[in-house]
Amino acid sequence: MNILLIGSGGREHALCWKLAQSPLVTKIFAAPGNPGMTEAEAISLNSTDHPAVTAFCHDKSIGLVVIGPEAPLVDGLADSLCAANVPVFGPSAKAAQLEGSKGFTKDLCARSSIPTAAYVRTDNVPDALAALDGFSIPVVIKADGLAAGKGVIIAESRPDAEAAVKDMFDGGFGNAGTEVVIEEFMTGEEASFFAVTDGISIVPLASAQDHKRVGDGDVGPNTGGMGAYSPAPVLTPELERRVMDEILYPTVNTLRAEGMPYSGVLYAGLILTDQGPKLIEYNARFGDPECQVLMMRMRSDLVELMLATAEGKLADIDAPVFADQSALTVVMAARGYPATPEKGGVIGNIEAAETDDIKIFHAGTTIKDGRLVANGGRVLNVTAVAHNVTTAQAAAYKAVDAINFPTGFTRSDIGWREVEREAS
Ligand code: AMP
Ligand code: GLY
Repeated sequence: MNILLIGSGGREHALCWKLAQSPLVTKIFAAPGNPGMTEAEAISLNSTDHPAVTAFCHDKSIGLVVIGPEAPLVDGLADSLCAANVPVFGPSAKAAQLEGSKGFTKDLCARSSIPTAAYVRTDNVPDALAALDGFSIPVVIKADGLAAGKGVIIAESRPDAEAAVKDMFDGGFGNAGTEVVIEEFMTGEEASFFAVTDGISIVPLASAQDHKRVGDGDVGPNTGGMGAYSPAPVLTPELERRVMDEILYPTVNTLRAEGMPYSGVLYAGLILTDQGPKLIEYNARFGDPECQVLMMRMRSDLVELMLATAEGKLADIDAPVFADQSALTVVMAARGYPATPEKGGVIGNIEAAETDDIKIFHAGTTIKDGRLVANGGRVLNVTAVAHNVTTAQAAAYKAVDAINFPTGFTRSDIGWREVEREAS
C-alpha cells in the first residue's frame, strides 16, 4: 500500500519510521517531510489545497493518508479526503474542534459530566472582567482557538488577569482570541494519555510526560516541548482506567451521539488532582515530542492500527503492544528558541550517535550546500529506549554529547520527576 504522510516535524519523522516497518507498506510519500525521513519520498504538496491533495492520492493510489499536525485537521483536510473515498487517519473538522476550540471542549465536558476545571466562556471584555469575580487567583485565561501552544496565561494577580483578558481581545493572539475561556486553576502533576478511536471503540495506547518549559527545573518560557518520556508511571493502571471511563468514553460517545464521530488519535492532557484525573485539554493529533517516545516503544503494526481506525474496524484488531521499557527523548533546539531560533547552524555526527536503542528523529533540519543544518526551533529529537527512565536518560544524553551541533542546546534534566522517583 502507498501512504501519504502530511507534516515535517519530529512527530512525523517518528511516524514515518514506524510506518515504514510495516510489511503492508509499498511506498511512503511525505509532504513536505524532512531530511531525516529517508524511508519516504519527499514531495511538495500544499496541504491547504484539498483538490491537489486528493488528486495526488488518486494519481498515486494512496491507500492511507496520515495527517500529523493540527492545522490541516481543523481546516477539514480529513473531510475532503473522506469525500473523495481516500482512507485517512485523522478526525473531521467538526471533531477536531476538540483541539481547535477550547470553549467547544469545555461545553462538551459540561454536557458529558467530564471532570475538568470550572470555566466561563465569553466573547467580550466586560463579561470577561465580570467573570473574573467568580474565580480565585491564580486564574487561567485561554484564547479559544489554535495559538501554537501560546494561548494560555496563568495569571498570578487580578491586574495580570485583567491585562491578559484585554490583550487577548485586543488581538494579542490573532483570531484565536476572539473568544476567551476563563478557568479555575487546578493543582497536580501533569501527564498525557494517548488513545485511538474510530468513533465507537477506543484503544488505549500509552501515557507520556513532556517538558514544556525551555529551562532546567521547568522554568522559562513555554515551548512546544523540550523532551518527553513514556510511560509516565504516575498514571497508574487504575488511573488510566478512570481516564478511559470518566473522560475518553464520555467524550467519544457524546461526539458520536451528536453527529460528529471522532476518528483518529485522542491526546488527553491531564492533571492528577486530589479528586482524581481531570482534563486540561484535548489535542486531535499525536504530541510532539510525545509521539517519538510512543513510536519507540510500539511493537505492533502502526499501519494496521491506523487503517483500522480510518475504516471503523478497531474492534476487529488485536490491542497494540508497547514494550515494557521506558523511552525518553531529548530535544536539541537551536540557540534562541523559543523566541528567535538561529538558523543555519551545522549539524554533524548524527549517524555515529545512532544504535539499536537510540534513534535520532529530525524536526527543523534542512540540507544546505550539501550539509545538514538547523532550520527551525526544535531541530533534533534524540530518543533512547532502555529498561527504566534513568538508564534511558543516560543513554539519550550520551548520544546528545556525540552529536556535533555547536549552535544547539538541550535541557539537561528531561525525565527528572521519574528519575527522582526511581532513585527513592
Ligand atoms: P496548553 O497550551 O493548553 O497545553 O496549556 C499549557 C499549560 O497550561 C498546561 O500544560 C498546564 O500546565 C497549564 N494549564 C492549562 N490549564 C490549566 C488549569 N486549568 N489549571 C492549571 N494549569 C493549567
Ligand atoms: N508536546 C506538546 C504538544 O504536542 O502539544
